[in-house]
Amino acid sequence: MSARRVLVTGASSGIGRALAEEAARLGWATILVGRVGPRLEEVARGLPGTGHEVLVADLSVPEGIGIVASAIRRTADAVDVVVNAAGMGTTAPFPLDSAEAERIMLDVNVRAVLELSQVAAEVMRVRGSGAIVNVSSTAAFWSAGTYAASKAWVLVATQGLANQCRPHGVRVMALVPGFTRTEFHQRSGTDASGVRPWMWLDAAGVAREAFASLAAGKDVCIPGRQYRLLVGMVRHLPPRGRAAVLRRLAPLAPVQTDA
Ligand SMILES: NC(=O)c1ccc[n+]([C@@H]2O[C@H](COP(=O)([O-])OP(=O)(O)OC[C@H]3O[C@@H](n4cnc5c(N)ncnc54)[C@H](OP(=O)(O)O)[C@@H]3O)[C@@H](O)[C@H]2O)c1
Repeated sequence: MSARRVLVTGASSGIGRALAEEAARLGWATILVGRVGPRLEEVARGLPGTGHEVLVADLSVPEGIGIVASAIRRTADAVDVVVNAAGMGTTAPFPLDSAEAERIMLDVNVRAVLELSQVAAEVMRVRGSGAIVNVSSTAAFWSAGTYAASKAWVLVATQGLANQCRPHGVRVMALVPGFTRTEFHQRSGTDASGVRPWMWLDAAGVAREAFASLAAGKDVCIPGRQYRLLVGMVRHLPPRGRAAVLRRLAPLAPVQTDA
């Protein structure tokens, strides 16, 4: 597909960074969104091509979402593709974490995705072209808890948005990765060392599959053949059965600290 400018949230690290790198490799200019300017500038300096920009915004607050929404609404240098990759987990499962930690996670994982998708869809439907990619997780299929619920929301809402936007020439896709080596688990204080080695994806491969699936017109992309098989097998099990499979294949625990 021919696109000129891609906006990627969560572009400072992990999957978002890899998506920005893949977009630049495909010849597109990028707008990199995150909270830390120097980190984004370092990513921008490493990208091939020209015209890359950084946009500092905290997506856990309305002002930050507003900054990104304004960039999407900009008519000069229109944004052709919006990728909502920013996301986070909490450091303790509900209800052991604070209500504030849950609010922040919901605002980043759900509210920002909701509002930025809505703005992007509005602008792109008028233009009659464009694409939106929202990053969900395989947790949406087999896990429980508030992080999984936020990612299930992303998946279901994105599929609905795809149906609404398709007749207007706008593509919408949910990217549904499994365990991927990024800063995610360290940031959420999760010891993922028990996850079976074959379950780990690398962010660059996830990004390559994402853009190939978008170009192929898919509504949902589950990177990695092992995950397409696994999701197909476990999604019809009852919730406790799914949880038992996950505990066996990917036992997670809080990181033990000396304190
Ligand atoms: N890694 C996995 O196993 C996995 C699996 C399935 C789905 N996912 C999803 O993939 C997406 C990317 O995660 P990742 O694995 O790449 O994790 P990561 O390496 O921790 O990257 C998270 C990104 O989100 C940004 N971010 C976090 N809070 C933010 C906020 N308040 N405002 C703006 N940006 C914020 C971070 O930017 P700054 O901190 O620089 O602001 C960073 O760029 C997330 O939506 C995650 O849920 C991850």
